[in-house]
Amino acid sequence: MATLEAVQGDITTMRVDAIVNAANSSLMGGGGVDAAIHRAAGPELLVECAALGGCPTGEARITKGYRLPASYVIHTVGPVWRGGTAGESELLRRCYESCLDLAGARGIRSIAFPSISTGAYGYPIQDGCRIAVRTVRDHLRGPSVIELVRFVCFSRRDLSFYQEALRPVPGP
Ligand code: APR
Repeated sequence: MATLEAVQGDITTMRVDAIVNAANSSLMGGGGVDAAIHRAAGPELLVECAALGGCPTGEARITKGYRLPASYVIHTVGPVWRGGTAGESELLRRCYESCLDLAGARGIRSIAFPSISTGAYGYPIQDGCRIAVRTVRDHLRGPSVIELVRFVCFSRRDLSFYQEALRPVPGP
């Protein structure tokens, strides 16, 4: 059974097989966690990203991790929050699912996620963290080599939301 945990910290320091980047569809860098990952990985990451030709919202692409402790970066593009009636929740679910599918295909055993879309893209953290946890739990019910999923929260406030979302589901 895989371990799901939430920590507060900087995802670029995480010693896991893969860290997830909350990118934009160009995959050519940006602010927030995207900037932090590119800064820590070094310039080769941008060169590999440039060759990928972008990524649609809800999908994911994988690159090497270069100077990061993680061997891989899985780049995903979350939805911009537009009030909740433009399919944002399904697109956010697909982000987590796409990353987990890519990780499984590469035999990745430990993966760290930032809180996708809940920063610049404005997705409310209360709902975003629940979609993240629910999607990971649902995925891990099936066959998977993943042993650790770590939600890395940048702020104490976000951590409290993820800790609440991770509380065990009350039994029947
Ligand atoms: N480690 C972990 N989490 C981080 C880090 C970090 N070093 N830096 C920022 N975060 C957190 C933010 O606090 C937020 O909770 O990552 C979460 C996602 O926020 P953003 O990075 O703004 O990502 P997102 O909301 O998905 O917006 C994506 O922003 O940076 C640009 O290129 C990116 O256009 C894209 C958009």
